[in-house]
Amino acid sequence: MRKPIIAGNWKMNNTIAETEKLVTELIPMVADAKADVVICVPYTSIAKAVELTKGTNIHVGAENVHWAEKGAFTGEISANMLVELGVEYVVIGHSERRQYFGETDQTVNMRTKAALAHGLKPIICVGETLEEREGNLTEEVVVRQTVEAFKDIDANELANIVIAYEPVWAIGTGKTATSEQANDTIKIIRDTMAKLYGDKTAEEVVRIQYGGSMNPANVKELMAMPEIDGGLIGGASLVAEKFSQVVNY
Ligand code: PGA
Repeated sequence: MRKPIIAGNWKMNNTIAETEKLVTELIPMVADAKADVVICVPYTSIAKAVELTKGTNIHVGAENVHWAEKGAFTGEISANMLVELGVEYVVIGHSERRQYFGETDQTVNMRTKAALAHGLKPIICVGETLEEREGNLTEEVVVRQTVEAFKDIDANELANIVIAYEPVWAIGTGKTATSEQANDTIKIIRDTMAKLYGDKTAEEVVRIQYGGSMNPANVKELMAMPEIDGGLIGGASLVAEKFSQVVNY
């Protein structure tokens, strides 16, 4: 019912030359994927990634987008700049943005609205820190992040939005949430979406990925969980062999 979606998040990795090598390797390896395949790449790699993936089943995403149309926002990139390059998806509110660059629930919402207004498909990240999990605040945190991210967003946009549940303590640490932990928290997020948009929409339309050290060894078990609709993959997306194994789980 909900089509799985596996997205790579390259973060600040890969020059244009490295992008060319990785994407060229990847194209035949994921050509028969049953899941939607996305690679979210640094701004400088976008043009090359779009050029190479034209006519393939790989979709290209950016890693952030500003909410304004244009103006005095040094270092930022607007939605229409991304659209002009042929970008389809955009990661919004990744925990690294929240942790290191002052991203808030409110800016996540503003970026999401700007992305949608230009036809980009947001991948909205939510997730608790280790401290929050240990303080039994996981539910409170992911519910708040979800409700705030979706403020003023119409139900008919939901087919174009992906949510990524990424427990911060599992990102880049090699420590995966157990499939039950991931499934339980994603259920909380889906229930939150059901309160906002109704049971049917939450059940049939809203796709929720898991992210945090997902790799070829654990993807099968995670994807077998009923609530998990895909993955947002960091480290393992930087090696064609590994990412293709995740995609073809
Ligand atoms: P990881 O990163 O797979 O390296 O843990 C996931 C992410 O941050 O999106």
